[in-house]
This record gives sequence, structure tokens and C-alpha cells, in this order.
Amino acid sequence: MRTNNPIGVFDSGLGGLTVVKELMRCLPNEDIVYFGDTARVPYGTKSKKAIIRFSQENTNVLLKHKVKMVVVACNSSSSYALASLKKKFSIPIVGVIDPGVQKAVETTCNKRVGVIATSATIASEAYDKGIQRQDKSVKVFSQSCPLFVPLVEQGWLNKKVTLEVAREYLGKLKRSGIDTLILGCTHYPLLKPALAKVMGKRVTLIDSAKEIALRVKYLLAESQQSRVCRGKRKSRYKFFVSDEPQSFQRIAKGFLGKDICINTRG
Ligand code: DGL
Repeated sequence: MRTNNPIGVFDSGLGGLTVVKELMRCLPNEDIVYFGDTARVPYGTKSKKAIIRFSQENTNVLLKHKVKMVVVACNSSSSYALASLKKKFSIPIVGVIDPGVQKAVETTCNKRVGVIATSATIASEAYDKGIQRQDKSVKVFSQSCPLFVPLVEQGWLNKKVTLEVAREYLGKLKRSGIDTLILGCTHYPLLKPALAKVMGKRVTLIDSAKEIALRVKYLLAESQQSRVCRGKRKSRYKFFVSDEPQSFQRIAKGFLGKDICINTRG
């Protein structure tokens, strides 16, 4: 592993930009190579077998760019494929589940934690098992929210219909008395204002994008692999997608607040 090599990040599509944004904020000296598998999104409705295969292929795409670490930004991939990726590849690979779990367990006071995610992530029970490993006394309440991803992709972050859908999905969680809610999908941090409005002030929202960026920072520092910044060279960001780049480019520009160059193959 070379200290000045980029960090690789992959996601099923554009949702992983929430992780990239946090990485840029937390680790401004690092170069990043991002791969969004826009041709095969969504992963959240796919089988475990398919998600593992796609995740291995995405990791191979990033390895061609000599990344020093792979960040699995997709929760569905982290849930189903992280163990197989760690077995198959020798490079450090980190997923989004554990950092979110740790923060939630530290945050909850009443030991009642909610998890919202795609159908695949909820079916995998990755968050439930992760929380139980850390603290058996925490009770977990899960809810899949399949309509959230298309609402985010449409850019309907705070519309009336989004609030209606959120009220429908979150009603049961709210009644269960949770004080902490894990946003277990790359897209959900973009819905934070709407989710906070529905859940109310007493529920803390755990943003796994922020948590994984902090974990990556810690791991690089611990293994002395943080990029050494010499002179005024700016960090380099490269973005690749597996399908047409136009809509990704438009949304990425709005979300990251900068013009980025997107390539269509890894
Ligand atoms: N990136 C996916 C996740 O975090 C959400 C979108 C999808 O279903 O592919 O689970």
C-alpha cells in the first residue's frame, strides 16, 4: 500500500457521494477515485449473490487505479458482500455498517435504536447483528423504506409527498419510542431535514456517511498511510460510472458544489 495512492470508493450509483463529501471534508489531502455502478443500480432490491458479484467487480475496477483502501459506501454491499471482499482481496476494505452501529450504541440513552435502509440491508440483518455484538441490551427496530431512493434520485428532498412517505414509513418506529435512528442507506442523509421533521427533536439521526469518513481517517492515521501533502498540490478526485454520465454529473455538481469530470468506464 502506497501512502500517496488514492482512496477508492464504490457505490451502486450516486448515493455514495454522501460518503465522498464527508471524506473530502474530513480528509482534504487525500485523492479519491469513485466508482458508481449506475448501470446496475439499485442494489437494494437484488439478491445476496448478485450484490456479492457486483461488489467484487467494483473492487476490481478500483484496484486498477491503485487505490490504497476501498470504502464500500453502499449499505447493501456492506451488508452482504463485505466479508467476501475482505476474504478475496488483500487491500484494506471498510464498510459503512460498523461505524454507524458504533455511533448508535454510543448515542442511545434508552437502548432503543431504529434502523431504516433498503430491503436488502434490512433482510441481511447486518445492523441488528452488529448492534447485538456491541451491546445485547439494545433493542433494534428496523424498517425498509424502498421509496426513499427514487425520491432522492428525483431530487424531491423536502416535498410534501416525501414527508407523507416518511410519515408512513416512520410512524411505527416513532411509536416504538426509539431515541436514535440509523440512516442505513447512502441516499438517506440527503433526506435528513425531512426525517428530522417527522421523527422530532428527541430522536438523534445517525449519518453513516459521516461515521465512515471518521473511521477512514482513523484507520489511515493508525497505519501511517495518510497522504503526505507537499507544496500546493490540490487533491485529485476521479469519478467513474458504468452508464451514461449526464444525470450523475448534474446531481454530483449540485451536491458536491463543484464541477467534476465523469468518465464512463473504470
Ligand atoms: N447505495 C444503496 C445502499 O446504500 C442504495 C441504492 C440502491 O438500492 O442501490 O444500500
